[in-house]
Amino acid sequence: MRVVVGISGGIAAYKAALAIRELVQAGHDVHVVPTASALRFIGRPTLEALSRNPVTDEVFDDVASVRHVALGQQADLIIVLPATANTLAKLAHGLADDLLGTTILASRAPLVLAPAMHTEMWEQPAVQANVATLVSRGVTLVGPVAGQLTGADSGMGRMAEPHEVVSAALALVDGGASQQGTAARGALAGRTVVVSAGGTREPIDPVRFLGNRSSGAMGVAVATAARDAGAAVTLVGANLDVPVPTGVEHVSVETTAQLAQAMQALADADVVVMAAAVADYRVDEVSAGKRTKESWGETPTLQLALNPDILAQLAQRERTNLVVGFAAETEADDAALLERGRAKLARKGADLLVLNRVGHTEGFGDVRTAVRVLDASGIVAESRGDKVSVARDIIDAIAARLAAHDRSNPTEEPR
Ligand code: CTP
Repeated sequence: MRVVVGISGGIAAYKAALAIRELVQAGHDVHVVPTASALRFIGRPTLEALSRNPVTDEVFDDVASVRHVALGQQADLIIVLPATANTLAKLAHGLADDLLGTTILASRAPLVLAPAMHTEMWEQPAVQANVATLVSRGVTLVGPVAGQLTGADSGMGRMAEPHEVVSAALALVDGGASQQGTAARGALAGRTVVVSAGGTREPIDPVRFLGNRSSGAMGVAVATAARDAGAAVTLVGANLDVPVPTGVEHVSVETTAQLAQAMQALADADVVVMAAAVADYRVDEVSAGKRTKESWGETPTLQLALNPDILAQLAQRERTNLVVGFAAETEADDAALLERGRAKLARKGADLLVLNRVGHTEGFGDVRTAVRVLDASGIVAESRGDKVSVARDIIDAIAARLAAHDRSNPTEEPR
């Protein structure tokens, strides 16, 4: 697919590089059109190297080919990230005083904008009126989100993460049919999927908790891949360090008990994925007031109680749906690692188990990961790479399993 990536002049322009790289890696033909001010934030060589195409902001370069018309007419999708307040205003009024403006006006392709600006600017009635105008004309906005802004301040106005912008934009065009793998071709269309992600926290007192290092990135990537595959997705997030993707329902939980309750309520989804790192133990007696050194003494002990195994409960109930677990193991020996995975799958009673190795740093928040997907018969899929592509492979394995189930139960209603 031919994608035009417009970049306007805000500090978030540097993040456009990540979106361009993701689009190119997914096999798209990417043409970057920065504004003149965007080029003060990010260099043309970077954009040319990543997009593998020439980059100009000039309407008067390559006039013989009528560049803006060619770019606009041939585009299948236009994404502008970041979209500044100035760019939103220009687009709302159809101004065409640079290559980006002319390209957008010369195109009938879907237009996706990722606004980024300070909270005060975003909340200005003028900006909001421009946004309303653009939305009423069918333009798609992704973000902004609340978070850290350029200075020390934080609030609404931060650009959505580049990956979020790219996946929302691709999902818009042919339901994401341009992405690779069956996950992108609507393999889960009509299915409901529930994914737990993050790590549960068990309170010790009002200010302290027992927790783990899970960021939620893997589970969120699985939820995103399921959404891109056409499923209606609910993400049950426990203390997520990563943003919730657009287009999924979000239930926020903190403790294992809350996670268990949320998952039980959603247990009848076609696919239930337990990617959350669940605290195995909770503090037996949570102190109502803050514990002090005086009340705790020199060598305090915490009495812990075993938490319920949510995955086992979900898997061992009477059901016809697909239940998928995750196992992060520190076992160095490969055969022993696989054996632990097989034993865990059997013990919990899940249909599939996604097995990966973690260390003190390996696996947690890492960009790259390697997993194997097991069923009762052994390894059914293997994947290695960034969490986004691994998540797509996991969704492919899940979709294949559902399809096999449908083939062997032709009379049953499709799940
Ligand atoms: N899990 C769960 N409830 C728990 C513990 C784990 O639902 N109380 C789920 C996790 O979400 C994951 C799978 O079970 O999908 C495996 O998690 P893991 O921590 O490896 O399982 P444990 O049973 O805690 O095994 P171990 O004793 O090896 O830690």
